[in-house]
Amino acid sequence: MTARIAPSILAADFARLGDEITRCEEGGADWVHIDVMDGCFVPNLSFGAKVIETVRKRTSLPLDVHLMVVEPAKYFDDFVSAGANGLTIHAEATPHLHRQLNKIRELGCLAGVALNPATPLEAISEIVPEIDLVLIMTVNPGFGGQRFIPYSMDKIRRTRLMLDEAGSTAALEVDGGINRETIRDVWIAGADTFVAGNAVFGAPDPSAEIRVLRSRCGVLA
Ligand code: DX5
Ligand code: ZN
Repeated sequence: MTARIAPSILAADFARLGDEITRCEEGGADWVHIDVMDGCFVPNLSFGAKVIETVRKRTSLPLDVHLMVVEPAKYFDDFVSAGANGLTIHAEATPHLHRQLNKIRELGCLAGVALNPATPLEAISEIVPEIDLVLIMTVNPGFGGQRFIPYSMDKIRRTRLMLDEAGSTAALEVDGGINRETIRDVWIAGADTFVAGNAVFGAPDPSAEIRVLRSRCGVLA
């Protein structure tokens, strides 16, 4: 198994978004991570369907859309029409995860659930078969460029165990503070998909940085 690298365009230069996407492709990025924020679920605003559509026109890479919004279901149809391949909603944002994950699958997308640092893994333990992707937040969502919360590592290990014990092939994605210093330990803990914003777009050569991140996830001893 090789690591999946998903650069987050939140950290990109929006005036040159097309070129930034090309750099991701040249570096061998697996997915493009798109952070949607509504200023309500998180204390920040970002972008919505128009940007998803713009990125879709520039690349055939899968678009991994992370909804940091209240009432996420309001956006499913628009985001799928805009070209999303995966929709990840927060467990904290809805009391009806089961229904909403099924809706995402019906729309032909990977159904993901994100957990904030303070949310226990038990929030999803009853619905593992409905999940195609678990996103463990390793910072508090809302902003790029924050430091990885060290004790998230244990939660990642427990998530890997939970998925394996359930026979789930869901992706285990981590988001927040992933860089060349932190990625290897997170890979060893059992994550397979890595969001990286500032580490990639803050680097002098974003394409090369994607390759560095992937190389840190070499074969485990
Ligand atoms: C945070 C977002 C992240 C963010 C990660 O709320 O969900 O995807 O872009 O940024 P870095 O990699 O800079 O921590
Ligand atoms: Zn994200």
